[in-house]
Parts: sequence; structure tokens; C-alpha cells
Amino acid sequence: MDTILKKIDNNNPHTDIATFLKVADILKSDGLVAFPTETVYGLGSNALSPAAVKKIYKAKGRPSDNPLIVHISSIDELKPLVLNISDKAKLLMAKFWPGALTLIFKKSNLIPYETSGGLETVAIRLPSNPIARFLISTTGLPIAAPSANSSGKPSPTKAIHVLEDLNGKIDAILDGGDCNLGLESTILDVSTDDIYILRPGPITISMIENEIGKIKIDPSIISTSLSSSEPTGAPKAPGMKYTHYSPNANITIVSGSDFNVQCEIKKLADSFIKKQIKTCIITTKQNNSIYNNYDTIIVGDLENPKTIAKNLFSTFRKCDELHFKEVLIGSFDENDLGLAIMNRLKKASGYTIINV
Ligand code: TXA
Ligand code: MG
Repeated sequence: MDTILKKIDNNNPHTDIATFLKVADILKSDGLVAFPTETVYGLGSNALSPAAVKKIYKAKGRPSDNPLIVHISSIDELKPLVLNISDKAKLLMAKFWPGALTLIFKKSNLIPYETSGGLETVAIRLPSNPIARFLISTTGLPIAAPSANSSGKPSPTKAIHVLEDLNGKIDAILDGGDCNLGLESTILDVSTDDIYILRPGPITISMIENEIGKIKIDPSIISTSLSSSEPTGAPKAPGMKYTHYSPNANITIVSGSDFNVQCEIKKLADSFIKKQIKTCIITTKQNNSIYNNYDTIIVGDLENPKTIAKNLFSTFRKCDELHFKEVLIGSFDENDLGLAIMNRLKKASGYTIINV
């Protein structure tokens, strides 16, 4: 299958109605269309069609027990998909939709088990990206969309990443340029009285708690290894149990005081280089000069964590393009957006963390 790649103006998708009518037809006939959102690119299909949704799992190589997020283009589209909407959920929707917050509700019968991964709940998101919303409204269907990467690869933040992973396996890609936020949405379970955060993301815990008071944190978010979350049962977001987001290179995170981290990173880099292993240090604008004898990639600006979030996944992909085999990185503070950054980084490293 030839994958259509079409550039769309993120600010004026309406000017290319012909393309949207075409890809809406593809979605209505159970095809797969990748599109930009403000977080990462999504791989969309008709959320109400088991046959369409099965194609997503096949194209990504994704385990079928890992449920999909259903995307809508206005709040009115939520009601038929879920059984009830709590007052706290309403407050959160009023504040953060459209945006990078996914909410989990008890599902209605409209949502097939193929979409919910066999669960009685469904994850719903109203994205803010104009292309995503125009695509959903033109199609007139809720759109199931996981991140548009092959399972196990870093989430795509540029159309070219989607093409690298899925060319020939999907019908079309809408190229709206780079995703603004670069990390997947925050996932919050509002299906019961106890509200749990299942995946940290751009909408931070403190932003949520400002609206609705204290929430609970799924242990898988703060655990330091995949297995340490097991005694409390499987993670509530099934996707969180899979090793994710990893480049082919091995990533090692070094954590501790700035000076100790820098010494340890240099020591590790020296030992790899001595063995002729191609090694890269992922660093920041502020710290790059500390490593001027080494190969480095600058992920962002320590004073503006949004830049680090935005570039993290594309930096992982760059490590592979440049054939690095070992990648070293200092840890970031786990406050606010830092919690989401460290969550993705730890998973990418397979929880390889050295404390110094
Ligand atoms: O920002 C995002 O959320 C992106 C863009 C495309 O919208 N999508 C995304 O989807 O990250 P995906 O499939 O890569 O991640 C969805 C996560 C998985 O970890 C999955 O297990 C969890 O959401 N999830 C989906 N439905 C769930 C449910 N009913 N209960 C618990 N977790 C659920
Ligand atoms: Mg994903």
C-alpha cells in the first residue's frame, strides 16, 4: 500500500477541505490515517469499528490488551460514548479541554471491546490541534488513536517519524509540522470516586489538584523499575507495563549532585569510548560545554523544561540515526513537567539508573 503524505497548514486546515474529505472517506471505510496533535502524532481509525481498530494493532505491532484513546472534536460528542460524567470530570473538562488531558470513563455499549482493550472503561481526549479537530469533525466519528509509532519505538513528534515507522502500512499521513508539546497526554481515571493519575504528562499534577483537590498517583508512575510496581497489581494503564519509547541505543540515566553526575557521565563515556563503542551524551544548553570533548546532543534548555519535553523523543530518534550505541544523560528534577520527562526517560532506559 502506498502511504499518502500531505502537508497541511496547522493554522488553516479549512483551506484544504479536499484533502480532509478524502481522508475522512478513508476513515469511514475503516482505513488508517496519521495526524498531528499538540502532544504527539496519532494513528487514527474509526473508534466504533472493530475491524478498523484491529488494523491499528496490526500496523503498530501493538498487543491487543493495550487500549486506545478515543479522540473527539467537541464536548458534545462525549456523552454517547460514556456512562456517566462526574462533577470533578466536568470541572477538568471545562479547564483543560481542548488539550493534553485524557480522561477515563465507564464506557457505553457504543465502544467496542477492541477499542477498550477488553476493559469496561474508555479513555477520551479532546485535542487542541486544529488539524486533529478538523479531521475528526469532517469524519463525524470518534477516532481511536494511539501514538503513531511502531510499538516500542519513541512516539513520533514529526511526520517523518511516522513515515519511518509505518510507511506502506497505513493509508495516509497529514503533516502539520512539529508537535508543540512533544510528550503524550496526561491520563486521569475519573471513572470512580478515587481519581488516579495513570500517566504523567503536560497537564501536571499541581494543575489538576488546583482544580479538584488531592488526587491519587498510580504506583507505576513513581516506581523505579517495571517489576517494583507488581506487588500492587498490574498498572492501571495497561500500556505502562510495556517497555516503551526506547531507541536502539542503550540509555543510562545518572542521578545525583550536578558535579557527581558530570564526573560519572565522563567516566562512563570514557570507558565506552575505550572499547570503541559509539557513545553520546544527551545534555542541555547550560551543560553542553562541560562535555566539549565528547559527542553530545542538546535536548533543550534547563530553564525551560517545555523545550526538553518537546525534543525528548526526536532526540532519542536522532541517537539511532547517528548510530550511537550507548547514550548517557543526567536526570532531571521530578517536579511538574519533570515528572513526565523522567517517566519517559526511565522507560526508555529500561530503568537503568545510576545514583552517584
Ligand atoms: O497524547 C496522547 O495521548 C497521544 C495522542 C495521539 O493523542 N496518544 C497516546 O496513545 O499516547 P497511546 O495509545 O500511545 O497511549 C495510550 C495509553 C496506554 O498506556 C493505554 O494503556 C492507556 O492509554 N489507556 C487507554 N485506555 C485506557 C483505559 N480504559 N484504562 C486505562 N488505561 C487506558
Ligand atoms: Mg504510545
